[in-house]
Amino acid sequence: MSQSSKSSPAAKVETAPNDRGVAADTADAESPAVPGAMEYDYTNFYFGAGSDAFALLEPFDDWWSEVKPAGYYLYELPLHTAPGTRVDVEDTKTGEIRRNLVNFASYNYLGLSYRPEVKQAIKDAVDVYGGGSSGSPILSGTTALHRQFAEEVAAFKGTEAAMIFPTGYSANVGTIAGLMRSGDLIVADQFAHASIVDGMILSKAKSRFFRHNRADDLERKLKGFDGKKLVIIEGVYSMDGDTPPLEEIVEVCQRHGARLMIDEAHSAFVFGETGKGVSEAQGFDDAIDIHLGTFSKSLGGQGGYIAGSERLINYLRGFSRSRFFSCALSPVVVAGLRKALELARQEPELRDQLWANVKTMQGLLADAGVPMGDSTSQVIPIMVRDDARVFAMGEDLFREGVFINPVKYPAVGKHKSRFRMSISAAHTQEDLEEGAAAIVRVLQRYGICP
Ligand SMILES: Cc1ncc(COP(=O)(O)O)c(C=O)c1O
Repeated sequence: MSQSSKSSPAAKVETAPNDRGVAADTADAESPAVPGAMEYDYTNFYFGAGSDAFALLEPFDDWWSEVKPAGYYLYELPLHTAPGTRVDVEDTKTGEIRRNLVNFASYNYLGLSYRPEVKQAIKDAVDVYGGGSSGSPILSGTTALHRQFAEEVAAFKGTEAAMIFPTGYSANVGTIAGLMRSGDLIVADQFAHASIVDGMILSKAKSRFFRHNRADDLERKLKGFDGKKLVIIEGVYSMDGDTPPLEEIVEVCQRHGARLMIDEAHSAFVFGETGKGVSEAQGFDDAIDIHLGTFSKSLGGQGGYIAGSERLINYLRGFSRSRFFSCALSPVVVAGLRKALELARQEPELRDQLWANVKTMQGLLADAGVPMGDSTSQVIPIMVRDDARVFAMGEDLFREGVFINPVKYPAVGKHKSRFRMSISAAHTQEDLEEGAAAIVRVLQRYGICP
């Protein structure tokens, strides 16, 4: 790191909260007295001295110019193909296009985003509706497609009603802040996604976090609070790939009069007998008060939804500011989503293929001794637990034909760095074997597996 940034405000700044509401472990006994650039992260540039609102721009820029070529360039790499199981990706460090990489980075769990039927539905909609919806959903932005799709989502989820948001992020923020007020209590799992955390902050309700998947700790956090209570969990945790113990959580919520919301961003359309999600897979669909999900993962499109009672949706129609004050999803996207949902419902074999692929990959990695945390889903974390070297390994993987996301603090806790692998129903046996072999080779090089 350059001398100027060593003595910059970054060295003295207060650590910012991380993205998952988890208290950061900032004390690292082995850190050198003057950390190198890669020891810093985004949180070091969150607070800083000075009265100029731009005071942090220069130290951040200084830091960025050092860490980008050292590994951060692996984020925002431009794809030159659809997010299929093989992708061509631009290497922004060398300017080359790396071709035919095995893709474990995209969320396209059922391979629907580039299906010919979906593309045709999108093309047909362009001819009728043009590119965008040109209005908020409550003014001019609701097309017939939006309305039909909301009804189809409600029918799929088996709820009275559903409402569509421009993104999964805005669905969380708009729902949580639309429902809860200052003086209320929200308790979320400590691994809750940033969009849940942001909704909690925006609501101004008292926000607490319970230990991951621990119903006993949830009970401690709810106990004694006399007022409106909302508990928020996820169906599949986005960085860990594990699922919540619904029976225990539902029981605690019911005993304490708390409403329960589940974010099924990664589990809707893939878990359960009919694909409704983890709530269906564990038999607690009716015990959930607010079902939330996204269309950006298993349906390979964009947008978010909430599903629940007619009254809930009616209320939130008026109070979800992230929907009310934002342009509706493009009708073109909605047309693609309607076809993708139809295919997901008509082709349960896609889910069977996904779970077969997950089993294959789990077997290939387990046989090689690769640490995978507690994942029980298509989201497989490959635990590196070495914040300093995760990017070096990421570069090796990229050069050796694998496109996969390196994840480090603040997206996960300190010293919990990992690669986040997404399996798709579309992966072939060859994709899985070739990708797993490259991963094992690189992990062995760094002593992560034997
Ligand atoms: C659990 C969870 N909720 C919400 C979101 C936001 O969804 P979207 O990307 O569709 O805005 C994500 C995105 O990764 C997520 O993992």
